[in-house]
Amino acid sequence: MTDTVGISLLGPGNIGSAVVGALARGSDRYAARVGRPLELRRVLVRDASKPRDGVRADQLTTRIEDVLADAGTQIVVELMGGEEPARTYIEQSLRAGKHVVTANKEVIAKAGAALLQIAADHGVRLLYEASVGGGIPVIAPLSRDLLANEVTAVTAIINGTTNYMLTAMTQQGADYGAILAEAQRLGYAEPDPTADVEGFDASYKIAVLCGLAFNVDVAPGEVTRQGISGITARDIAYAGQLGSVIKLLARARLVDGEVEVSVQPTLIGRGEPLAKVDGVLNAVQLEGDLVGRVLFEGPGAGPGPTTSSVLADVLDIAQDIVAERAPRPAVPRRRVRVRPPEEHMARYYLRIRVLDQPGVLARIAKSLGDAQISIASVIQFDSEDQATEGTAELVLTVHRASGAALQGALAEIRRMDSVVEVGNVLPMEG
Ligand code: NAP
Ligand code: HSE
Repeated sequence: MTDTVGISLLGPGNIGSAVVGALARGSDRYAARVGRPLELRRVLVRDASKPRDGVRADQLTTRIEDVLADAGTQIVVELMGGEEPARTYIEQSLRAGKHVVTANKEVIAKAGAALLQIAADHGVRLLYEASVGGGIPVIAPLSRDLLANEVTAVTAIINGTTNYMLTAMTQQGADYGAILAEAQRLGYAEPDPTADVEGFDASYKIAVLCGLAFNVDVAPGEVTRQGISGITARDIAYAGQLGSVIKLLARARLVDGEVEVSVQPTLIGRGEPLAKVDGVLNAVQLEGDLVGRVLFEGPGAGPGPTTSSVLADVLDIAQDIVAERAPRPAVPRRRVRVRPPEEHMARYYLRIRVLDQPGVLARIAKSLGDAQISIASVIQFDSEDQATEGTAELVLTVHRASGAALQGALAEIRRMDSVVEVGNVLPMEG
């Protein structure tokens, strides 16, 4: 038995340096909660010549082998980000008999099931609370508190950058480009914003949640994905007139033993709890057969909230180490069919620019009707600027339809001479 619980950190960056600081500041409290002091041992970096706050030079290393060979390291905390070498280092750590805590949604989404099995095979734990929703407790409640439920639906806002941008577009009536530039200036959006604005980050996170909520293995590439870069100030204004806001919504449903999972800009009725989640906040709404609907909301990113989740996992494992509790066996994930977007059922918002002529609306209505799609509402907005003079924008909402039926009707609508452009087509929720 050692007299400390040894922790090595891979990546003292934005989050990792906050973890180092919190470990030092809270050392007495953590020792009391665990029953033994936590000790920071090795810290893996790319550049060992750069000084790091709270880390001694002799703790720094650029070689993963130094971490793996350190007998005093019982927990490896991976905060490097990216798929490789993070995935390999996590696997090597587990195979070396070390518990792993990570905030890496990309690795967990792509390789979580295999890594959890490796952890179980080696009698250690792999925890990843910080990988979804930053500081919001969602992984642990799904793994423990809601375990008695059959979870049938997850509906979530799990990307703070895009939620900040869509909120700002709504509040300022501004277009995407201007708000992206502002978000980059304020440090909310990355210089290369692709992962956030095109929905990749959210697709990793919803894939991770599918694993826990439904016990199924969904690859991030199977998530139907649409980003927010095509959303205009007009879409947001029209949504407002329909009593809705636009959010980048991650949705997963278990339907007849199959999974329907998407990340899409979605109109949400203003009365829905998720419509009120603004700025960089995240929220995850779960529906279980016993509990009904529960909503977790809070800060989805940032050093403080993310450190809160990382250290919760570290303390949980440390308590198990001290109590000599054996890790639970892995629950093997099921593979089920993931429905393609053609089979998704939703209500939709359609924005179509047309020549302002008699009979255009009737022809569009006929195409939708022929595809068995029922129109719920139509609003016409006449053009107010010279470039689009003589045209009008039709904003239609339709009752529940399959993606295939809608795409079939839209293909026909696009071919009409009087249709200038089919603009955004977005699902509606609530
Ligand atoms: P970051 O600031 O870019 O830090 C990454 C750290 O990893 C740096 O210290 C870097 O070393 C080190 N590193 C990267 N590649 C390495 C390699 N090949 N070998 C050795 N060290 C390497 O990233 P972050 O924002 O802290 O994010 C860390 C993780 O937390 C990511 O998985 C991210 O998705 C997740 N996360 C972040 C947030 C957030 O708010 N930022 C929220 C939730 C989850 P050098 O310092 O030497 O370059
Ligand atoms: N880039 C992510 C977001 C934070 O904007 O929510 C890390 O998960």
